[in-house]
Amino acid sequence: MKVVTFTLILSLAGLTGCGEAETPPPASASGQQLFDHHCAGCHRPQGTGNFLKGIPANALTDMDVDDIVSLIRNGDVSKPKMPAFPELSRYQAERIVLHMWQLRKELIERYNQQ
Ligand code: HEC
Repeated sequence: MKVVTFTLILSLAGLTGCGEAETPPPASASGQQLFDHHCAGCHRPQGTGNFLKGIPANALTDMDVDDIVSLIRNGDVSKPKMPAFPELSRYQAERIVLHMWQLRKELIERYNQQ
């Protein structure tokens, strides 16, 4: 009986894991969840970008928080290849930026260990 329950839990976890990318995250989603859903497809989960596709490492940007929040929500004519996300609130955009700073910290730590 225990084994059956355990297997069931595992397969349910597998199901929700699969659906994650399709269902939009809830309003209360963390910065990481929002970043993974909206940004990671282009900028990669670690925010390192894709040099060959002309996608910058957004985790290493020198833009400040307000400018990034505005870029996320309104877009920027000088960055035509970066889509705008008007459906995100200011708070959600700020959470994404905080997650980017966390990614930046991890990238710097990794760099210093080389
Ligand atoms: C469809 C691909 C795509 C997605 C999705 C995307 N970006 Fe971008 N982003 C780009 C491209 C391309 C640029 C470079 C601007 C240009 O070339 O027009 C960029 C530029 C940026 C920059 C400026 C970097 C710099 O220093 O110039 C930031 C910050 C950024 N993106 C953050 C984000 C965040 C946060 C998200 C998610 C909410 C996101 N991007 C989603 C493609 C994308």
